[in-house]
Amino acid sequence: MGYDLAAISNLLTEGLKAFESVADAAALEELRREYLGGKGHVKAILGGIKDVPKEQRGEYGKAANVLNAKLTEAFQAAQARVGSTAAARPGIDLTKPGKRREIGHAHIITQTIEEIVEIFQRIGFSQVEGPEVEDEFHNFDALNIPAGHPAREEADNFYLQLNAPDWEAKPVPMLLRSQTSTIQIRTMEKHQPPVRVIAPGRVYRPDTVDATHHFMFHQIEGLAIAEDLHFGDLKAVLELFVREYFGPETRMRFRPHYFPFTEPSAEVDIDCQMFKHLKKPWLEVLGCGMVDPNVLQAVGYDPEKYTGFAFGMGVERIAMLKHRIGDIRHFTTNDMRFLGQF
Ligand code: DAH
Repeated sequence: MGYDLAAISNLLTEGLKAFESVADAAALEELRREYLGGKGHVKAILGGIKDVPKEQRGEYGKAANVLNAKLTEAFQAAQARVGSTAAARPGIDLTKPGKRREIGHAHIITQTIEEIVEIFQRIGFSQVEGPEVEDEFHNFDALNIPAGHPAREEADNFYLQLNAPDWEAKPVPMLLRSQTSTIQIRTMEKHQPPVRVIAPGRVYRPDTVDATHHFMFHQIEGLAIAEDLHFGDLKAVLELFVREYFGPETRMRFRPHYFPFTEPSAEVDIDCQMFKHLKKPWLEVLGCGMVDPNVLQAVGYDPEKYTGFAFGMGVERIAMLKHRIGDIRHFTTNDMRFLGQF
């Protein structure tokens, strides 16, 4: 037996003093090992109880347990005072830089949508949304795109065959909307003029994916209807947007164009500092026009009484121009090296 009662008593006095005066975590760890570790004094004493002659075993065991309890308590008190022993453990280098905890943020497309929508909200446009699975009425007919129009072709749209509520009836042709202009119709069906809405959303077209085409992308649609809106109002609203978003020096021009749901229609090109690097003076950023009377009629508005304007823009295109992104596929590959830049 390596210890007798006197040795235990000495260890207790000595140990308590040592734990009490220890000054740093590394020294504490050494003390812990010496007294309480797997090869330390306390373990050896407790392990030796069984070898003590029977008559002395009770007293010895009691002393051993007191020693264990008091030193453990002293160790814990010291630990609370000088800090964790983790610092002293080999393999932990406190001088190493910490691991950065990645904090998520909105996707660059979401950020772009929010910035654009916010500008229109400031001038009284409300944000609205519409369904991504649409019927032909909202995607085409009501938008003055009649049966037989090339924009309705099978190969240019994602048609779905959904069963009608009554399963014996013919399936209703539905499609993934090809444009957010559908939301113009859904808004006017629900609300009487004046309306002023801004509507972001996903759209789908079966285009072959390459650097500038994708089968899914985002658009932002705008619509304003009231009693006497004219082209000057459209111009003023878009000029405000373009200056806010692309910079106060931005120049814009309206280039005559054709869209089935507006008459007259135009595309807007801009010339701004932001795109100087592209070395092209005019870049197309959106389509717009005065809402065609046929569209107003389709939703039951009186075209003699109401007029309005609409516009639509591609979010990916604008984000790519603004942030000099060369490939539309980056938006959907979830590569943190790309996404983390914004
Ligand atoms: N829907 C058109 C497109 O997908 C964009 C557009 C053009 C929307 C003119 C409009 C508009 O509201 O007036 O190409």
